[in-house]
Amino acid sequence: MRAAIERVLDDCGFAQGRDLEEFENEFATYLGSAHCVGTSSGTAALKLALEALGIGAGDEVIVPANTFAATALAVTANNATPVFVDVEGDTLLLGIDAVVAATTARTKAIMPVHLFGQVVDMDPIMRFARERGLFVVEDAAQAHGAEYLGAKAGTIGHAGCFSFYPTKNIGALGDGGALVTNDVELARLVRTKRWLGQEKGSRYRHDIVGENSVLDTLHAAVLRVKLPHLNVWNDERRSAAAMYRKLLDGVPGIRLLAERGDGRHVYHLFAVLVAERETAEASLREAGIGYGIHYPIPLHRQAAFSGRSKALGPFPVADNAASSLLSLPMFPGITHDEIVDTVGALRRVSSRRAVGATHF
Ligand SMILES: Cc1ncc(COP(=O)(O)O)c(C=O)c1O
Repeated sequence: MRAAIERVLDDCGFAQGRDLEEFENEFATYLGSAHCVGTSSGTAALKLALEALGIGAGDEVIVPANTFAATALAVTANNATPVFVDVEGDTLLLGIDAVVAATTARTKAIMPVHLFGQVVDMDPIMRFARERGLFVVEDAAQAHGAEYLGAKAGTIGHAGCFSFYPTKNIGALGDGGALVTNDVELARLVRTKRWLGQEKGSRYRHDIVGENSVLDTLHAAVLRVKLPHLNVWNDERRSAAAMYRKLLDGVPGIRLLAERGDGRHVYHLFAVLVAERETAEASLREAGIGYGIHYPIPLHRQAAFSGRSKALGPFPVADNAASSLLSLPMFPGITHDEIVDTVGALRRVSSRRAVGATHF
Protein backbone atom coordinates (compact mmCIF):
# COMPACT_ATOMS: atom_id res chain seq x y z
CA MET A 1 0.00 0.00 0.00
CA ARG A 2 2.87 2.37 0.77
CA ALA A 3 4.28 1.76 -2.71
CA ALA A 4 0.89 2.45 -4.26
CA ILE A 5 0.53 5.67 -2.28
CA GLU A 6 4.01 6.78 -3.33
CA ARG A 7 3.15 6.09 -6.95
CA VAL A 8 0.18 8.47 -6.64
CA LEU A 9 2.39 11.05 -4.88
CA ASP A 10 4.94 10.86 -7.72
CA ASP A 11 2.22 11.03 -10.32
CA CYS A 12 0.25 13.86 -8.64
CA GLY A 13 -2.95 12.57 -10.24
CA PHE A 14 -4.89 12.89 -6.99
CA ALA A 15 -8.23 13.53 -8.67
CA GLN A 16 -9.39 11.24 -11.49
CA GLY A 17 -5.92 9.72 -11.72
CA ARG A 18 -4.92 6.58 -13.56
CA ASP A 19 -5.51 4.27 -10.57
CA LEU A 20 -9.18 5.25 -10.46
CA GLU A 21 -9.90 3.92 -13.94
CA GLU A 22 -7.70 0.88 -13.35
CA PHE A 23 -9.50 0.03 -10.13
CA GLU A 24 -12.90 0.50 -11.75
CA ASN A 25 -11.92 -1.92 -14.51
CA GLU A 26 -10.46 -4.44 -12.07
CA PHE A 27 -13.46 -4.36 -9.71
CA ALA A 28 -15.90 -4.68 -12.63
CA THR A 29 -13.92 -7.66 -13.94
CA TYR A 30 -13.77 -9.27 -10.49
CA LEU A 31 -17.54 -9.00 -10.13
CA GLY A 32 -18.37 -9.90 -13.72
CA SER A 33 -20.12 -6.57 -14.28
CA ALA A 34 -19.84 -4.46 -17.43
CA HIS A 35 -19.25 -1.12 -15.67
CA CYS A 36 -17.96 0.22 -12.38
CA VAL A 37 -18.07 3.86 -11.31
CA GLY A 38 -16.04 4.82 -8.24
CA THR A 39 -17.77 7.19 -5.81
CA SER A 40 -16.81 9.07 -2.68
CA SER A 41 -18.84 6.68 -0.47
CA GLY A 42 -21.36 3.87 -0.55
CA THR A 43 -24.04 6.39 0.37
CA ALA A 44 -23.14 8.51 -2.66
CA ALA A 45 -23.33 5.43 -4.90
CA LEU A 46 -26.81 4.56 -3.59
CA LYS A 47 -28.04 8.15 -3.91
CA LEU A 48 -26.68 8.52 -7.45
CA ALA A 49 -28.12 5.16 -8.50
CA LEU A 50 -31.65 6.21 -7.55
CA GLU A 51 -31.18 9.69 -9.00
CA ALA A 52 -29.91 8.35 -12.31
CA LEU A 53 -32.86 5.95 -12.48
CA GLY A 54 -35.13 8.98 -12.28
CA ILE A 55 -36.50 8.35 -8.79
CA GLY A 56 -37.75 11.48 -7.08
CA ALA A 57 -40.60 13.23 -5.26
CA GLY A 58 -43.78 11.16 -5.00
CA ASP A 59 -41.98 7.86 -5.67
CA GLU A 60 -41.81 5.04 -3.14
CA VAL A 61 -38.79 2.79 -2.63
CA ILE A 62 -39.00 -0.42 -0.59
CA VAL A 63 -36.26 -0.69 2.06
CA PRO A 64 -35.79 -3.30 4.82
CA ALA A 65 -36.26 -1.88 8.33
CA ASN A 66 -33.03 -3.39 9.68
CA THR A 67 -30.24 -1.85 7.67
CA PHE A 68 -27.75 0.95 8.09
CA ALA A 69 -29.52 4.29 7.73
CA ALA A 70 -27.59 5.10 4.53
CA THR A 71 -29.86 2.82 2.48
CA ALA A 72 -32.88 4.96 3.32
CA LEU A 73 -30.95 8.26 3.32
CA ALA A 74 -30.25 7.63 -0.36
CA VAL A 75 -34.02 7.61 -0.90
CA THR A 76 -34.77 10.75 1.12
CA ALA A 77 -31.83 12.53 -0.55
CA ASN A 78 -33.81 12.17 -3.79
CA ASN A 79 -36.99 13.45 -2.10
CA ALA A 80 -38.58 10.03 -2.54
CA THR A 81 -40.27 8.02 0.23
CA PRO A 82 -38.63 4.99 1.81
CA VAL A 83 -41.21 2.31 2.59
CA PHE A 84 -39.93 0.22 5.48
CA VAL A 85 -40.80 -3.46 5.64
CA ASP A 86 -39.98 -6.24 8.07
CA VAL A 87 -37.45 -8.94 7.17
CA GLU A 88 -37.31 -12.73 7.20
CA GLY A 89 -36.94 -14.30 10.63
CA ASP A 90 -34.19 -16.80 9.81
CA THR A 91 -31.80 -14.54 7.85
CA LEU A 92 -32.93 -10.98 8.73
CA LEU A 93 -32.94 -10.28 4.97
CA LEU A 94 -35.59 -8.74 2.74
CA GLY A 95 -38.07 -11.32 1.41
CA ILE A 96 -40.44 -11.37 -1.54
CA ASP A 97 -43.63 -11.51 0.57
CA ALA A 98 -42.85 -8.20 2.25
CA VAL A 99 -41.96 -6.65 -1.11
CA VAL A 100 -45.25 -7.74 -2.69
CA ALA A 101 -47.27 -6.52 0.32
CA ALA A 102 -45.59 -3.08 0.23
CA THR A 103 -45.88 -2.45 -3.51
CA THR A 104 -48.29 0.29 -4.58
CA ALA A 105 -48.86 2.27 -7.77
CA ARG A 106 -46.19 4.71 -6.51
CA THR A 107 -43.50 2.08 -6.00
CA LYS A 108 -40.54 2.67 -8.31
CA ALA A 109 -37.71 0.62 -6.81
CA ILE A 110 -36.71 -2.10 -4.38
CA MET A 111 -33.48 -1.96 -2.38
CA PRO A 112 -32.41 -5.43 -1.21
CA VAL A 113 -29.64 -5.11 1.38
CA HIS A 114 -27.16 -8.00 1.50
CA LEU A 115 -26.79 -7.52 5.22
CA PHE A 116 -23.81 -8.97 7.09
CA GLY A 117 -22.44 -10.40 3.81
CA GLN A 118 -25.27 -12.71 2.73
CA VAL A 119 -27.13 -12.12 -0.53
CA VAL A 120 -30.91 -11.70 -0.43
CA ASP A 121 -32.96 -14.36 -2.25
CA MET A 122 -32.93 -12.29 -5.45
CA ASP A 123 -34.69 -14.48 -8.05
CA PRO A 124 -38.28 -13.92 -6.80
CA ILE A 125 -37.57 -10.21 -6.30
CA MET A 126 -36.13 -9.80 -9.81
CA ARG A 127 -39.07 -11.71 -11.32
CA PHE A 128 -41.58 -9.52 -9.47
CA ALA A 129 -39.65 -6.35 -10.40
CA ARG A 130 -39.70 -7.33 -14.08
CA GLU A 131 -43.45 -8.02 -13.97
CA ARG A 132 -44.17 -4.66 -12.30
CA GLY A 133 -41.57 -2.55 -14.10
CA LEU A 134 -39.64 -1.74 -10.90
CA PHE A 135 -35.95 -0.99 -10.54
CA VAL A 136 -33.78 -3.03 -8.19
CA VAL A 137 -30.81 -1.31 -6.56
CA GLU A 138 -28.74 -3.73 -4.52
CA ASP A 139 -27.10 -2.39 -1.38
CA ALA A 140 -23.98 -4.57 -1.45
CA ALA A 141 -22.05 -2.36 0.98
CA GLN A 142 -21.41 -5.39 3.22
CA ALA A 143 -21.12 -8.04 0.52
CA HIS A 144 -17.94 -7.68 -1.57
CA GLY A 145 -17.45 -11.03 -3.27
CA ALA A 146 -20.62 -12.63 -1.87
CA GLU A 147 -22.50 -14.85 -4.33
CA TYR A 148 -26.04 -15.95 -5.11
CA LEU A 149 -26.60 -18.84 -7.55
CA GLY A 150 -23.19 -18.16 -9.08
CA ALA A 151 -23.65 -14.38 -9.51
CA LYS A 152 -21.73 -11.87 -7.43
CA ALA A 153 -23.64 -9.54 -5.11
CA GLY A 154 -24.26 -6.22 -6.83
CA THR A 155 -24.50 -7.67 -10.34
CA ILE A 156 -28.06 -9.02 -10.20
CA GLY A 157 -30.21 -5.87 -10.03
CA HIS A 158 -30.16 -2.80 -12.28
CA ALA A 159 -27.35 -1.41 -10.16
CA GLY A 160 -25.27 -2.58 -7.22
CA CYS A 161 -23.66 -0.25 -4.69
CA PHE A 162 -20.58 -0.91 -2.58
CA SER A 163 -18.92 0.87 0.31
CA PHE A 164 -15.17 0.89 0.89
CA TYR A 165 -15.44 2.31 4.40
CA PRO A 166 -12.26 1.12 6.18
CA THR A 167 -13.98 -1.73 8.09
CA LYS A 168 -15.56 -3.29 4.99
CA ASN A 169 -14.35 -6.58 3.45
CA ILE A 170 -12.14 -4.40 1.29
CA GLY A 171 -11.76 -0.95 2.72
CA ALA A 172 -10.10 2.28 1.60
CA LEU A 173 -8.05 4.57 3.84
CA GLY A 174 -11.19 6.61 4.43
CA ASP A 175 -14.56 6.85 2.73
CA GLY A 176 -15.08 5.36 -0.71
CA GLY A 177 -17.68 3.53 -2.73
CA ALA A 178 -18.65 2.24 -6.16
CA LEU A 179 -21.64 1.56 -8.33
CA VAL A 180 -21.68 -1.36 -10.75
CA THR A 181 -24.14 -1.99 -13.55
CA ASN A 182 -24.48 -3.70 -16.90
CA ASP A 183 -26.43 -0.72 -18.24
CA VAL A 184 -24.08 1.47 -20.27
CA GLU A 185 -26.38 4.51 -20.15
CA LEU A 186 -26.86 4.26 -16.38
CA ALA A 187 -23.09 4.02 -15.92
CA ARG A 188 -22.54 7.07 -18.12
CA LEU A 189 -25.14 9.09 -16.22
CA VAL A 190 -23.71 8.22 -12.81
CA ARG A 191 -20.17 8.92 -14.06
CA THR A 192 -21.31 12.37 -15.19
CA LYS A 193 -23.35 13.11 -12.06
CA ARG A 194 -20.53 12.13 -9.69
CA TRP A 195 -18.33 14.78 -11.41
CA LEU A 196 -20.62 17.81 -11.02
CA GLY A 197 -22.48 16.97 -14.21
CA GLN A 198 -19.40 17.07 -16.45
CA GLU A 199 -18.99 14.30 -18.98
CA LYS A 200 -15.59 12.70 -19.27
CA GLY A 201 -13.50 14.89 -21.57
CA SER A 202 -15.92 17.85 -21.28
CA ARG A 203 -14.63 19.76 -18.30
CA TYR A 204 -16.54 22.97 -17.45
CA ARG A 205 -19.49 21.94 -19.59
CA HIS A 206 -22.53 21.04 -17.44
CA ASP A 207 -25.46 19.68 -19.40
CA ILE A 208 -27.03 18.01 -16.35
CA VAL A 209 -26.87 18.61 -12.61
CA GLY A 210 -24.44 16.63 -10.52
CA GLU A 211 -22.35 16.62 -7.38
CA ASN A 212 -18.74 16.17 -6.34
CA SER A 213 -18.65 12.47 -5.41
CA VAL A 214 -15.69 10.89 -7.22
CA LEU A 215 -13.59 8.16 -5.56
CA ASP A 216 -10.16 9.69 -4.80
CA THR A 217 -7.18 8.24 -6.66
CA LEU A 218 -5.31 7.46 -3.42
CA HIS A 219 -8.16 5.25 -2.25
CA ALA A 220 -8.42 3.58 -5.65
CA ALA A 221 -4.68 2.85 -5.59
CA VAL A 222 -4.98 1.21 -2.16
CA LEU A 223 -8.07 -0.74 -3.19
CA ARG A 224 -6.15 -2.10 -6.18
CA VAL A 225 -3.60 -3.55 -3.75
CA LYS A 226 -6.31 -5.11 -1.60
CA LEU A 227 -8.64 -6.50 -4.29
CA PRO A 228 -6.45 -9.52 -5.21
CA HIS A 229 -6.64 -10.59 -1.53
CA LEU A 230 -10.41 -10.32 -1.24
CA ASN A 231 -11.23 -13.98 -1.96
CA VAL A 232 -8.68 -15.27 0.53
CA TRP A 233 -9.84 -12.79 3.18
CA ASN A 234 -13.45 -13.85 2.57
CA ASP A 235 -12.40 -17.51 2.91
CA GLU A 236 -10.82 -16.67 6.25
CA ARG A 237 -14.03 -14.97 7.37
CA ARG A 238 -16.02 -18.04 6.27
CA SER A 239 -13.75 -20.41 8.19
CA ALA A 240 -14.09 -18.25 11.31
CA ALA A 241 -17.88 -18.28 10.89
CA ALA A 242 -17.89 -22.08 10.58
CA MET A 243 -15.88 -22.29 13.81
CA TYR A 244 -18.28 -19.94 15.61
CA ARG A 245 -21.23 -21.96 14.33
CA LYS A 246 -19.77 -25.21 15.62
CA LEU A 247 -18.86 -23.82 19.03
CA LEU A 248 -22.08 -21.83 19.55
CA ASP A 249 -24.41 -24.60 18.43
CA GLY A 250 -26.74 -25.42 21.30
CA VAL A 251 -25.53 -22.69 23.65
CA PRO A 252 -28.68 -21.67 25.55
CA GLY A 253 -29.91 -18.13 24.92
CA ILE A 254 -28.11 -17.81 21.57
CA ARG A 255 -29.70 -18.18 18.16
CA LEU A 256 -27.63 -18.34 14.98
CA LEU A 257 -28.82 -16.71 11.79
CA ALA A 258 -29.37 -19.07 8.88
CA GLU A 259 -26.77 -19.41 6.13
CA ARG A 260 -28.64 -20.22 2.96
CA GLY A 261 -27.41 -22.95 0.64
CA ASP A 262 -27.76 -20.99 -2.61
CA GLY A 263 -24.74 -18.74 -2.34
CA ARG A 264 -21.58 -17.67 -0.64
CA HIS A 265 -21.93 -15.66 2.57
CA VAL A 266 -18.84 -13.48 3.10
CA TYR A 267 -19.47 -12.67 6.76
CA HIS A 268 -18.76 -8.97 6.83
CA LEU A 269 -20.21 -9.38 10.33
CA PHE A 270 -20.91 -12.43 12.43
CA ALA A 271 -24.08 -11.43 14.26
CA VAL A 272 -26.06 -13.69 16.59
CA LEU A 273 -29.35 -13.19 18.43
CA VAL A 274 -28.80 -13.18 22.18
CA ALA A 275 -31.59 -13.52 24.74
CA GLU A 276 -29.83 -11.49 27.45
CA ARG A 277 -27.76 -9.01 25.48
CA GLU A 278 -26.74 -6.70 28.29
CA THR A 279 -25.36 -9.59 30.33
CA ALA A 280 -23.56 -10.92 27.27
CA GLU A 281 -22.08 -7.48 26.57
CA ALA A 282 -20.85 -7.23 30.17
CA SER A 283 -19.26 -10.66 29.94
CA LEU A 284 -17.45 -9.76 26.68
CA ARG A 285 -16.30 -6.44 28.14
CA GLU A 286 -15.01 -8.22 31.24
CA ALA A 287 -12.95 -10.49 28.97
CA GLY A 288 -11.66 -7.48 26.99
CA ILE A 289 -13.42 -8.63 23.82
CA GLY A 290 -14.83 -6.08 21.37
CA TYR A 291 -18.33 -6.43 19.90
CA GLY A 292 -20.86 -4.39 17.95
CA ILE A 293 -24.62 -3.90 17.71
CA HIS A 294 -25.92 -3.71 14.15
CA TYR A 295 -28.26 -1.95 14.56
CA PRO A 296 -29.77 -0.78 17.86
CA ILE A 297 -32.59 1.34 16.33
CA PRO A 298 -34.48 -0.01 13.29
CA LEU A 299 -35.23 2.55 10.60
CA HIS A 300 -38.98 2.72 11.24
CA ARG A 301 -38.09 4.05 14.71
CA GLN A 302 -35.46 6.60 13.63
CA ALA A 303 -36.56 10.20 14.15
CA ALA A 304 -34.85 11.29 10.94
CA PHE A 305 -37.37 9.37 8.82
CA SER A 306 -40.45 10.39 10.77
CA GLY A 307 -42.87 12.21 8.46
CA ARG A 308 -40.87 11.33 5.35
CA SER A 309 -41.26 7.55 5.19
CA LYS A 310 -43.93 4.87 5.23
CA ALA A 311 -43.74 2.02 7.71
CA LEU A 312 -45.53 -1.15 6.69
CA GLY A 313 -45.57 -2.70 10.16
CA PRO A 314 -45.74 -4.52 12.41
CA PHE A 315 -42.01 -5.26 12.62
CA PRO A 316 -41.62 -8.19 15.02
CA VAL A 317 -38.40 -9.44 13.38
CA ALA A 318 -36.62 -6.09 13.02
CA ASP A 319 -37.69 -4.98 16.51
CA ASN A 320 -36.48 -8.21 18.09
CA ALA A 321 -33.22 -8.02 16.13
CA ALA A 322 -32.61 -4.46 17.36
CA SER A 323 -32.85 -5.57 20.97
CA SER A 324 -31.00 -8.88 20.71
CA LEU A 325 -28.39 -8.77 17.90
CA LEU A 326 -24.76 -8.92 18.89
CA SER A 327 -21.87 -8.84 16.39
CA LEU A 328 -18.91 -10.93 17.51
CA PRO A 329 -15.27 -10.32 16.50
CA MET A 330 -14.89 -11.15 12.80
CA PHE A 331 -11.94 -10.29 10.59
CA PRO A 332 -9.52 -12.13 8.32
CA GLY A 333 -6.81 -13.72 10.42
CA ILE A 334 -8.89 -14.08 13.59
CA THR A 335 -7.42 -17.03 15.48
CA HIS A 336 -9.05 -20.18 16.80
CA ASP A 337 -8.13 -19.08 20.34
CA GLU A 338 -9.79 -15.70 19.89
CA ILE A 339 -12.99 -17.41 18.76
CA VAL A 340 -12.83 -19.91 21.64
CA ASP A 341 -12.37 -17.03 24.13
CA THR A 342 -15.38 -15.18 22.71
CA VAL A 343 -17.57 -18.25 22.85
CA GLY A 344 -16.31 -18.90 26.39
CA ALA A 345 -17.43 -15.43 27.47
CA LEU A 346 -20.89 -16.07 25.97
CA ARG A 347 -21.09 -19.51 27.60
CA ARG A 348 -20.37 -17.94 31.00
CA VAL A 349 -23.57 -15.87 30.50
CA SER A 350 -25.68 -18.96 29.97
CA SER A 351 -24.12 -20.84 32.88
CA ARG A 352 -24.93 -17.91 35.22
CA ARG A 353 -28.56 -18.00 34.21
CA ALA A 354 -30.89 -20.32 36.16
CA VAL A 355 -31.67 -23.49 34.29
CA GLY A 356 -34.99 -23.23 32.49
CA ALA A 357 -34.95 -19.43 32.43
CA THR A 358 -34.06 -19.20 28.74
CA HIS A 359 -36.58 -17.12 26.85
CA PHE A 360 -36.28 -16.18 23.26
C1 LIG B 1 -25.73 -1.67 4.48
C2 LIG B 1 -24.97 -0.40 4.23
N1 LIG B 1 -25.44 0.47 3.33
C3 LIG B 1 -24.79 1.61 3.05
C4 LIG B 1 -23.61 1.94 3.67
C5 LIG B 1 -23.02 3.27 3.37
O1 LIG B 1 -21.72 3.24 2.94
P1 LIG B 1 -20.71 4.45 3.25
O2 LIG B 1 -20.43 4.44 4.70
O3 LIG B 1 -19.52 4.14 2.41
O4 LIG B 1 -21.38 5.72 2.83
C6 LIG B 1 -23.06 1.04 4.60
C7 LIG B 1 -21.78 1.25 5.28
O5 LIG B 1 -21.36 2.15 5.87
C8 LIG B 1 -23.77 -0.14 4.92
O6 LIG B 1 -23.30 -1.00 5.81
